[in-house]
Amino acid sequence: MKNIVVLVSGGGTNLQALIDAQESGMIKDGKITCVISSKPGVYALERANNHNIKSKVIARKEYGDVVEYSKAILVALNEEKADLVVYAGFMTILDELVVKAYPNRMMNVHPALIPSFCGKGYYGLRVHEEALKKGVKLTGATVHFVTEVCDGGPIILQKAVEVLDDDTPEVLQKRVMEQAEWKILPQAVSLFCEDRLEVRDDRVYIK
Ligand code: GAR
Repeated sequence: MKNIVVLVSGGGTNLQALIDAQESGMIKDGKITCVISSKPGVYALERANNHNIKSKVIARKEYGDVVEYSKAILVALNEEKADLVVYAGFMTILDELVVKAYPNRMMNVHPALIPSFCGKGYYGLRVHEEALKKGVKLTGATVHFVTEVCDGGPIILQKAVEVLDDDTPEVLQKRVMEQAEWKILPQAVSLFCEDRLEVRDDRVYIK
């Protein structure tokens, strides 16, 4: 049974999708053992609490620089004996010292089809604003392994979602979450826990 630690910063709908997948028996060989939030008081913490999942707050604003913050996260991940770390709406880019300690064992969900609308500065609603500005007809979501390159790690799963003429960023965000993120994130976690993800030459193969 793999220990899954979920990192959050906000509402936690992706965390909820993982909890639902766990409770429905979809994630067979893993268990969410801890939720770590970079912000106090966010609704994701309440979701963990509602399902008797341990949570911790390691507040980004209490640390001067990202290296000190990353060290604190690393200590917590080691304490939890994490086998898999999931960034589920986690809005802090951690130092590579964390990534190096968990190679191909950290995954992130991004609300666009990477390599579109990704990298530094592309997070949350911003991603959908840019997609609408560009006028793309399709967008979607990507789950990828985390490397030291922001949104640049090997891609595990992607799902496309239609953009409609009268979409606002909020409407598009909701559609991308419902039709893509909440589906592919639990799938990717489940595949990882069953040891079905193989990374070769920066590509992910599903066994
Ligand atoms: C999600 O859309 C997630 O893909 C995005 O933030 C939202 C968090 O929602 N993440 C990023 O933009 C990371 N670059 P949630 O807290 O309800 O899961």
